[in-house]
Parts: sequence; structure tokens; C-alpha cells
Amino acid sequence: MKSLATSLAVAAAFLSSFVLAQDGTPTIVQGGTNPYTCDPTKCIAPKCMCASQTPPGGIKPADAPQFVTITFDDSVQPELLQTAYDLLNVQNPNGCKAKGSWYVSMMYTDFSLVQSWFAQGNEVADHTFTHVGTPSAQEIQAAADMLKAYAGVPHGMLKGFRAPFLNYTADTLKEIAAQGFLYDTSATAVVDDCYWPYTLDNGLANDCWTGICNPGTVNLPGVWEVPMYAVLDNASIPQLMDVYLAGTPADVTTWSQTNFDRHYNGNRQPFGIYVHPTHLTNYAGLPDATALKSGVVSFIQSLASKPDVWFVTNDQLLQWMQNPVPASQLASQSYMQCSKPVTPKEICNGLENLNYNSTVVTGDLINACNFNTSNFATCFNCPGSAPSLQTPVPASGVANGTAGYRTPLPDNCNPLWWDPVAGQCLCTTSSCAYQDTSVPKQQNSTNGTTSGSASPSTSGTAASSAAPGPVAATALTMAAALLTAFIL
Ligand SMILES: *[C@@H]1O[C@H](CO)[C@@H](O)[C@H](O)[C@H]1NC(C)=O
Ligand SMILES: *[C@@H]1O[C@H](CO)[C@@H](O)[C@H](O)[C@H]1NC(C)=O
Ligand SMILES: *[C@@H]1O[C@H](CO)[C@@H](O)[C@H](O)[C@H]1NC(C)=O
Ligand SMILES: *[C@@H]1O[C@H](CO)[C@@H](O)[C@H](O)[C@H]1NC(C)=O
Ligand SMILES: *[C@@H]1O[C@H](CO)[C@@H](O)[C@H](O)[C@H]1NC(C)=O
Ligand SMILES: *[C@@H]1O[C@H](CO)[C@@H](O)[C@H](O)[C@H]1NC(C)=O
Ligand SMILES: *[C@@H]1O[C@H](CO)[C@@H](O)[C@H](O)[C@H]1NC(C)=O
Ligand SMILES: [Zn+2]
Repeated sequence: MKSLATSLAVAAAFLSSFVLAQDGTPTIVQGGTNPYTCDPTKCIAPKCMCASQTPPGGIKPADAPQFVTITFDDSVQPELLQTAYDLLNVQNPNGCKAKGSWYVSMMYTDFSLVQSWFAQGNEVADHTFTHVGTPSAQEIQAAADMLKAYAGVPHGMLKGFRAPFLNYTADTLKEIAAQGFLYDTSATAVVDDCYWPYTLDNGLANDCWTGICNPGTVNLPGVWEVPMYAVLDNASIPQLMDVYLAGTPADVTTWSQTNFDRHYNGNRQPFGIYVHPTHLTNYAGLPDATALKSGVVSFIQSLASKPDVWFVTNDQLLQWMQNPVPASQLASQSYMQCSKPVTPKEICNGLENLNYNSTVVTGDLINACNFNTSNFATCFNCPGSAPSLQTPVPASGVANGTAGYRTPLPDNCNPLWWDPVAGQCLCTTSSCAYQDTSVPKQQNSTNGTTSGSASPSTSGTAASSAAPGPVAATALTMAAALLTAFIL
């Protein structure tokens, strides 16, 4: 059994990749020339969309929904997930709960919580395995493979990507296109380049000061950019992520409101609230985050009280972009519904009741997988060894055909209807049917990750008894939680 100190030391080794302030705002340069051009008579919706400040489909700004996207970054842990739910505790005009998007990095993430978040209709997206800037293909793919194997998120439902530290290049965008993602959301929009989401057929139209908008740099037909919308603080300095760190809650609310009004009373471009939930979560020994969080919660509640304001995932936003309707018709769109599957028995699909105490997640149906920086619970098989960048989905610790084996999600079952214990898809009607036709994210452009992680072979033989016991797991997971706090 490893001591807590050892665990911390091991975890600290990983810290170096987190230490750079991923919070706050990256360098943002306003103005300058924008070489982007796009001919709307040649770029035809829904496959192609020019960058534009005005709503798509000729919808008048006053008739457009005011979308608000609340996004969360990095690992998913019990307290962080609770913070996210506290922020999303408002309703959309059609009575459904607000939805959010989570850009998930793998280390310290509990996959049972990812599955639970996803099962509530929220979005799960890719934020790499180890959380590095200018990520390799392998970093992006490893995360996608783990999210499928341990959280049951099929590649076809993993639509989005955000670069850690928002540090991306043209190659990053090319790679996410090659791996079949629908969109990137790493670029920054301020005022002059405050575009609705657009496709990269004609290149990027944001962050042009880096040279990335120069003709020929990026041309990725059908791949969307969802710009991150910066807000100007009271000194006109653009703030992007964790804006609540830039002033007192009262001041931040004031200038956030001014920026929201510019969108709402203007061209109704989406408004973003970009959160690292660690900053809004209380940890023993760290400054109390209660006031910060209440400031954000009150701001969100004030937005929710206005007509035509919808809290959506970036995935939902893009469904609307591809088929825009006036706000008056949004309530009836299929992607805005909030039904839950009624399965004939309780299955491990993310909707069962989980208990979590401190950072340990338990449930009747979930497995606990105990590795040093990879402690997590899952509805699926625990890996036989700790996942790594090279081998994000090691062979199962339990062999097919032996007790406790969980059958991986197949490509032809909606994950909400998949019973991994029985190895059975409980969906029997066309309304719940699903076929994953995504471009496989296992691509030849990547180096050495296990391919076909979705269907681990029957040869998983590693003894599950090698995993540390629950006490060690508790200490280790707590170490991970502390670490998260230190990262700030
Ligand atoms: C982006 O990430 C790369 C690789 O991690 C790093 O070398 C570079 O300094 C980063 N750039 C910025 C602006 O953070
Ligand atoms: C593949 O690995 C080689 C060397 O190991 C490295 O130079 C290259 O950048 C990697 N390619 C990707 C897409 O990760
Ligand atoms: C912005 O507000 C802060 C108080 O939060 C104040 O100290 C500062 O002087 C203000 N700056 C400007 C440019 O108004
Ligand atoms: C949960 O934590 C509380 C406070 O630490 C403790 O009193 C309680 O016994 C714990 N419950 C379980 C089931 O471990
Ligand atoms: C953590 O896991 C890695 C990968 O399995 C392993 O190499 C390392 O020895 C482990 N460290 C501890 C302290 O268990
Ligand atoms: C598990 O074993 C059964 C029986 O041999 C086989 O039909 C099934 O395809 C295997 N499942 C996987 C995921 O390999
Ligand atoms: C993978 O290889 C095939 C054929 O060798 C090629 O057509 C395809 O473009 C490659 N994909 C990537 C992402 O490199
Ligand atoms: Zn991040």
C-alpha cells in the first residue's frame, strides 16, 4: 500500500503540466487586420457557415434565442461536479434544466461521474489525456478512447475539443478534423471578431493576430469553431475564463452584465461563462470560495429570468446553427427536449443513484478501479493496469466469460439503454435506437495507442486482486483532490 506522502510526490510529478495558469485569460490582442474572407453565396448552410456577427438563416437578432453556454474544464470529481450542478440550477424556457459542456482531461477524473453528467443530457468533450498545450494526436485520441471505454460516451457523441491552456495551432485543428470531431472551442472572440459559430471551410476568423487566419493556413470543411466570447472588464481588458477572479463579485457582476447586454440587445451572439470549477469549490485549508460562487450563481439566475435566454451545450448550439429557428420555435426542437429513458430495470447507465463521500464514489452497480493517479469508478471493466498516454485503455482486469465481466458499449446501442452487466441493449424501438457512424477516432495518424479500445479482446487476464484496497484508494483519491486545489 502506498503512503499518502508517496502518492502526493507521484502526483506532484504530474503537477508540472498543470502549473501554468490555465485559468485567467491568455494573451488577447484586439484589432489588427483580419484576412478572413468568406463568400456566403458559395458557403452554403448547413455544411458551411461563414463567420458572421449576425444570426444565421436571416433571423433577426430580436427573434434569435440568446444562448448562454456554461462550460467546465479539466477533471471531473465529486465536489467539482456538484459545483457545476449548482451553477446549472436554472431552467430553460421550455421547462428543461439548463445544460452545460465539460471539457474533460483524464487524470483525476472519475468516469462514473462523467457518465452521470452525460446521462443528464449534458455534453462531454475532449480536453486531452495529460492536459498539455499544443497536444499531440495521441493526447487527443487517448482521452476519446477512455471516455468511450470507461464513461460509455461513443465517439459519435463526443463532438467537441478544447485545447488545454487554449494553446492550439493550425495542426491542432487539423488533427481534430482528422479524428472526426465536429468542433473546436479554443479560439477567443472579443468585440470586433465576435462571430457566431462558423465552419473552417474558409479558415479561422479569430485569434488572427497570431497569423492563423492567413489564407491557406487552415481549411477544414464542415469543422466548426465555436469562439469563446471574452468580456471586457471595467478597464476594457478582455477577460475570458474564470472572470470572477478578476474583481469583487459585485464588480464582476456589473461588467459581466454590461457585456451580456451588448450581446442580448445587439446581435445575440452566444454568451459564454467559462469555468474551472476548482475556483468555485471549497477545499479545506484554502480560501473560502462561497462568495465567488454565489456571485456567479446570482448572475446566472438573473440571466435566466430574461425572455429568450437558453442555457445550452455547445453541441446543442451547433444543432441550432445547422438548422436555425426563431426563439419562439426553439422549445419544440428535438435537441432541446429533456426526456429520460424508462428502462425496465435499473442498469448501469449513469442514471442510477451514486453515493459519494469526500471523493469516493460508490453505487450498487459500479466498479471501483484503484490505481495511483487513475482512481475512478465505472460501469465498465476496470483496466488490468493503470491507463497511460501510451495505453489509455489497457486490457480489462476481468476476463470475458468470468464473473463480474462488463460488456463494452457496442456501436449500435444508445448508451442510455446499454446494460453492461447483462451485455444487453434494452432499446427496442426506433426512438431510442443509435448507430455510431463516427469517423473512427483510432486513426493512423496516431502513435502506438491500443486500437479498437471499444472492443477489448477476450484476453484481459490481469488479476484484479492486484489493485490496492479501498483504504489506499481513499487516501490516493484524497491526494488527488488536494492536488487539484494546489494547481490553482
Ligand atoms: C503552448 O504549448 C507548448 C507545448 O506545451 C509550449 O511549448 C508553448 O510555450 C505554449 N504556448 C503558450 C503561449 O502557452
Ligand atoms: C509520432 O511519434 C513520433 C516519434 O515518436 C513523433 O515525432 C511524432 O510527432 C508523433 N506523431 C504524432 C501525431 O503524435
Ligand atoms: C475598476 O473597478 C475597480 C474596483 O473593482 C477599481 O479599483 C478600478 O479603478 C476600476 N477601473 C476603471 C478603469 O474604472
Ligand atoms: C461520510 O462522511 C461523513 C463526514 O466525514 C461521515 O460522518 C460519514 O460516516 C461518511 N459516510 C460514509 C458512508 O462513509
Ligand atoms: C503509478 O502508476 C504508474 C503506471 O502504472 C506506475 O509506473 C507507478 O509505479 C505507479 N506509482 C505508484 C506510486 O504506485
Ligand atoms: C465475450 O465472450 C462471448 C462468448 O465467448 C462472445 O460472444 C463475446 O463476443 C465476447 N465479448 C467481447 C466484447 O469480446
Ligand atoms: C489513414 O490512412 C488512410 C489510407 O492509408 C488515408 O486515406 C487516411 O487519410 C489516413 N488518415 C489520417 C487521419 O491520416
Ligand atoms: Zn484545462
